[in-house]
Amino acid sequence: MVLEQERAATQLPNRADERPHEILEVRGLKVHFPIVRGLFRRTVGYVRAVDGITFDLESGETLALVGESGSGKTTVGRAILGAIRPTDGTIFITTRARDRIDAGRANGESLKTLRREVQFIFQDPYGSLNPRMTVFDIVADPLRVNGLARGNGLRDRVEEMLRLVGLSPELMRRYPHAFSGGQRQRIAIARALVMGPTLVVADEPASALDVSVQAQILNLLQDLRAKLAVSYLFISHDLSVVQYISQRIAVMYVGQIVEMAPTKSVFSAPRHPYTQALISSVPTPDPALRSRGQPMPGEVADPANPPVGCHLNPRCRYAQDLCRKEPPALRELAPGHFVRCHFAEELDLTGVPT
Ligand SMILES: Nc1ncnc2c1ncn2[C@@H]1O[C@H](COP(=O)(O)OP(=O)(O)O)[C@@H](O)[C@H]1O
Ligand SMILES: [Mg+2]
Repeated sequence: MVLEQERAATQLPNRADERPHEILEVRGLKVHFPIVRGLFRRTVGYVRAVDGITFDLESGETLALVGESGSGKTTVGRAILGAIRPTDGTIFITTRARDRIDAGRANGESLKTLRREVQFIFQDPYGSLNPRMTVFDIVADPLRVNGLARGNGLRDRVEEMLRLVGLSPELMRRYPHAFSGGQRQRIAIARALVMGPTLVVADEPASALDVSVQAQILNLLQDLRAKLAVSYLFISHDLSVVQYISQRIAVMYVGQIVEMAPTKSVFSAPRHPYTQALISSVPTPDPALRSRGQPMPGEVADPANPPVGCHLNPRCRYAQDLCRKEPPALRELAPGHFVRCHFAEELDLTGVPT
């Protein structure tokens, strides 16, 4: 029995032939942080970091969550991991064994399952690895903690995982300080994927690295998605980073999704002024395209005190009276293309050829 378990654990999941199904269903997710003041710690307001978000993610898919810093992306990721409780709404994860877990209310056994099925890759490859553990122990740890492998089975599995992320197993007795930023991120990826998770939340996984190394890490993640049949929620403040790695993009602004569509449509036919502004800051070699729009002026709105009406209205050059009064709803303008703008049909926005 133990032997069988060990053998199973040393085999990396190979379920690429599996039929696609929903693995993540987020419905009306809100995460509000109380602002407390004074001696009696009275709640004087709320930071509405995530304010009513709904989306799905299919098995094998990469959905990018994009928006300026402070828009609530990391908070969405932490709620999916079960690390923060939602103020409202639900998050359901469907595991490989087809169990449905409510990540917002997981505890005991279901929290343990959630920790196996959903993994996280952080931005900072220096802070996220324990400096006192060898590479072997870092990657082996999740398997040991969950009792999934030991002895030779454990060693084989760690070596296989290291090879998959492009690291030589000969280096596995070394400590993280011996490695470059890019290599450390490979170690972090090996640890995140070693248990064959259903979903990986990758929070700016390449942003802290040199530009030349960024592409290697993105290519590696892309490659492993197909090999290990894993899905990614890929968080980035930079649209150009997600252009080639994601099938769909959800653009966030002050805790809400303002546009969500297949990646091609987001780039070639954006329907929200905020998306267009993000696209215009993507570098392009073609001078004819450089004039195609302007970055948004001003600062991201304060999620503790967002503007009345459309949250973007003080920064939006298309804003009209209605935008300063009524919050726009997220509407499906074309199949699978959602936009939160009163005037989406009337605006003549330009994208970039894809
Ligand atoms: N634990 C917390 N307590 C209070 N406010 C928080 C907390 N975590 C995040 N915030 C606030 O929530 C908003 C969204 O933050 P975050 O999710 O980190 O955005 P992003 O990842 O898009 O930069 C920010 O205004 C941030 O200051
Ligand atoms: Mg963040």
